[in-house]
Amino acid sequence: MASISPQTTTDTSLIPDPRAHFSFTALPFTQEIPATKMWRQPGLDELVDDLEASVSARMSVAVIAPSGTGKTTLLRRLVERLPDTRYQVADIKVTSVSNRDFYRGLARALAVEPTGTWPALLEKLQAHAQSLAATEARRLVVIIDEAQDMRPEVLSTLRVLTNFNLDSELLISIILVGDGGLDTLLHRPDMEALRSRLSRVIRVRLLSRTETKAYIDHRLDLVGARQQILDDSAVEAVYDFSRGNLRAIDHLCRTALEIAARQKLETIDAGLVTAARKRLP
Ligand SMILES: Nc1ncnc2c1ncn2[C@@H]1O[C@H](COP(=O)(O)OP(=O)(O)O)[C@@H](O)[C@H]1O
Ligand SMILES: [Mg+2]
Repeated sequence: MASISPQTTTDTSLIPDPRAHFSFTALPFTQEIPATKMWRQPGLDELVDDLEASVSARMSVAVIAPSGTGKTTLLRRLVERLPDTRYQVADIKVTSVSNRDFYRGLARALAVEPTGTWPALLEKLQAHAQSLAATEARRLVVIIDEAQDMRPEVLSTLRVLTNFNLDSELLISIILVGDGGLDTLLHRPDMEALRSRLSRVIRVRLLSRTETKAYIDHRLDLVGARQQILDDSAVEAVYDFSRGNLRAIDHLCRTALEIAARQKLETIDAGLVTAARKRLP
């Protein structure tokens, strides 16, 4: 019996390239963006200030907002502001791992030998924080991204890190970052002790209609767009579909630009944004 192999489209010429079509200098709406090219999101500087002040006051905080609203970008901005001379920063992204694997990962991120049981690792991390404070006057900042994916039994152990040494010295600031799932987790009765250690919850908001337009313009300016590519109706449609969520805006605009390139259109209207929306999951 003849076997049928799946049809593959490896011919890259079939993939429309908006760069060639629109004479862009680079692909717009990419996931990664250098700090110098970021859009100055209104209100975001204040959030970075708040986070920095909390860390400086030796506090732990939670940053809660839906996926795609700019949380990870906000953290990158915070980390850039924390001088190595005063802080050692562990910036980790977690998945649903056991206590042992979580504390091994954290130890590795802090250049602490990742061996032993998890309670032993926890003690090693405490000792590390104490020696760092005593010998170098530096403090630990532990940033945990995607914290909604943590197992509850792992998350609850973090309270031990936020206050050891008889509460007299706060040597570790923990920044928990996640979506609504983290909010739900933190409100479980068994998280009461951890929740009480958090000095505040920072929430990142969605963009407004006018901010959505400003963001799209910024992203297109970065790649040298010469004219207004999305007409007013298109920008309205992007806002209506994305509700001001940055990642959703990126996906919609990227897909709309690809369709426009394929159809050799110079401008994008609401109909084309709707077509792009239908292609996205
Ligand atoms: N200030 C900004 N300037 C340009 N692009 C941004 C900015 N903030 C976020 N983005 C874009 O939005 C996307 C989502 O941001 P991200 O920080 O990953 O959100 P979250 O962590 O909340 O899911 C990123 O991939 C990035 O391309
Ligand atoms: Mg993120």
